[in-house]
Amino acid sequence: MSTQIITKRVSVPELRGRKSQEKIVGLTAHSCNIARVIDDYVDFILVGDSTAMVAYGHTNTLSITVDQLAAHGAAVVNATVRACVVVDMPFGSYQESPELAFRNAAKIISISGASAVKIEGGAVLATTVKFLVDRGIPVVAHVGLMPQYLNTLGGFRAQGLDEASAQRIIEDALAHEAAGAFVLVLEGIGEPLARRITGMVSIPTIGIGASPACDGQILVSEDVLGLSGSEVPRFVKQYLNGEALVRAAVEQYSVDVKNGAFPEKHHCFGFKAVK
Ligand code: KIV
Repeated sequence: MSTQIITKRVSVPELRGRKSQEKIVGLTAHSCNIARVIDDYVDFILVGDSTAMVAYGHTNTLSITVDQLAAHGAAVVNATVRACVVVDMPFGSYQESPELAFRNAAKIISISGASAVKIEGGAVLATTVKFLVDRGIPVVAHVGLMPQYLNTLGGFRAQGLDEASAQRIIEDALAHEAAGAFVLVLEGIGEPLARRITGMVSIPTIGIGASPACDGQILVSEDVLGLSGSEVPRFVKQYLNGEALVRAAVEQYSVDVKNGAFPEKHHCFGFKAVK
């Protein structure tokens, strides 16, 4: 008799219901192997438009496409059984109209199998959030520092530093909550503002560079694992020096190959368990 372990994926309503409870843990992933490993420890995985930077080496997030993120989303969904998978809607795929946003979000969801999409934008996009939610597409709204607005902002810098700008971010957050977003990502804002917004909205807030006052945190996996090169945002705590480990391993591999130090059974094809 074969035994089968059935694991249930964290659902959108479950994440939505985690307001003010145990903190929600999020990380990004864009490929199956990292996704498979982190799946045991996180509540949700974001296939972020930061894939443009960490997988393709671009200097910002603007150049990734719907097709690329849908394909990376499928890799992450296929490799995971537990975490709720959310895929970013890339720049240009939703700002023009709610209808365009729906077509692209539906494409992302149907190709990837993800549970939800994320969009960046202020209150002006609340109509789009409602349009998607009313048609069966759960939405995470991302406010504060919005990297897709890089050219308008003139750089990646903290937001909400004066009362007028803090007030605008609060209005953005409230508009998205009213439109039906199930989670709010708050990026690049200070603790007092993160605390204010978290206390005002009934949906969980997930911070990135927005202090522990949020209901959870999302970071880019490569930053946490020391695989992003030299430029890592100041608020990131690095848990592993992945680059040093990979360098040491590949250096040893190179030495072994040059010395002919192959495993004894190198001629026997097959696989061995590595766990
Ligand atoms: O693309 C991304 O990685 C993001 C962050 C919120 C993690 O949007």
